[in-house]
Amino acid sequence: MTIPYGRQSIDQSDIDAVIEVLGSDWLTTGPKVAEFEAAVARTAGTPDATVVTSGTAALHVAYAAMGVGTGDEVVTTPMTFAATATTAMTQGATIVFADIQNDTGNIDPDAVAAAMTDRTRVVAAVDYGGHPVDADRLAEVAHAGGALLLEDAAHSISSLLNGRPVGSLADVTTFSFFPTKNLTSGEGGAVASPDPDLVARARRFRTIGIVRDPAQQRYPDEGPWHLEIPALGLNYRLPDILCALGLAQISRLADFKARRTAIFNRYVAGLSDIDDLRLPTVREGTDPMWHLFAVRVPAERRRAIFEFLRANGVLVQVNYIPTYWHPLFEDLGYRRGQCPVAEQFYREEISLPMFADLSPSDQDRVIELVREALR
Ligand SMILES: Cc1ncc(COP(=O)(O)O)c(C=O)c1O
Repeated sequence: MTIPYGRQSIDQSDIDAVIEVLGSDWLTTGPKVAEFEAAVARTAGTPDATVVTSGTAALHVAYAAMGVGTGDEVVTTPMTFAATATTAMTQGATIVFADIQNDTGNIDPDAVAAAMTDRTRVVAAVDYGGHPVDADRLAEVAHAGGALLLEDAAHSISSLLNGRPVGSLADVTTFSFFPTKNLTSGEGGAVASPDPDLVARARRFRTIGIVRDPAQQRYPDEGPWHLEIPALGLNYRLPDILCALGLAQISRLADFKARRTAIFNRYVAGLSDIDDLRLPTVREGTDPMWHLFAVRVPAERRRAIFEFLRANGVLVQVNYIPTYWHPLFEDLGYRRGQCPVAEQFYREEISLPMFADLSPSDQDRVIELVREALR
């Protein structure tokens, strides 16, 4: 019996929602898309949001909607899934890495300020593990340098910062609905923004760039069949089938958050007395939706502890290998050592199982094994 580090929670309401769509007229862009987009926007506290095929697609669409292109720089964290950076590279941008805060694993606003140049177009921050970034400071730093703040909230839908939902904090926010995330549509993602024009550009990009509204066309008198593509776009449409699943899941989000919070608290109660084990920080004013339970152990023992837990059926993970350590970046000239806090964080990190359906008995087994590994 293995315990994964993360997995989806699917109940009968999710199954019924998908089956209903399979019998309807629409498999792809139909009524569930707009319904899911409205539900994401409500959760994000924004006037609008658009859904796409993955969190990676959401990042690509967001960078495109912000006008990121060749010659621009994007300042981002190395403590993330590589897509936060690589999607900006597909737009022609150069990536500049800024180091993280040692307690949260989130990008450090002072390091961002030091990394900004007159070519910085976007600061891309990530809510590591679900803990919101210092969005107000980051927005201040980004805006002072003429850049926009993107919040990659793949981990943190429904987290709050000083009572405000993630989604409403940055110029643009992206979400992922991959199965291990806080809610799932199988694959899926979304882009939210307080700026409706930015969401409109994102929506157009994910629909091949097509414009059907005659009022927005250059040649509206061509005929009733006419459509135009005024700017680049791709097909990142999320099908109705998956939007139905996303909708059913988003109605369970408050319950998911309560269950993840209870798991977080049980870990803290079961593990906080162990020397050599560092638990996640909760900064004042934050109310995280926990996607990861990221602990830190002495770097020289990390591998043995990781292998012990895996050998005992606890399928722990490491989040993340610093992005610029990947050969893709090394071959472009990025060198190890540039973000020492992130590199040390990586060397010490292990992600314990964290998902809504983790049972108390399975969690107790994880706690016991962690205690044994660190004895
Ligand atoms: C921080 C972060 N950004 C982006 C992504 C990409 O999301 P997806 O897997 O839905 O493409 C992920 C998912 O792994 C992630 O963890």
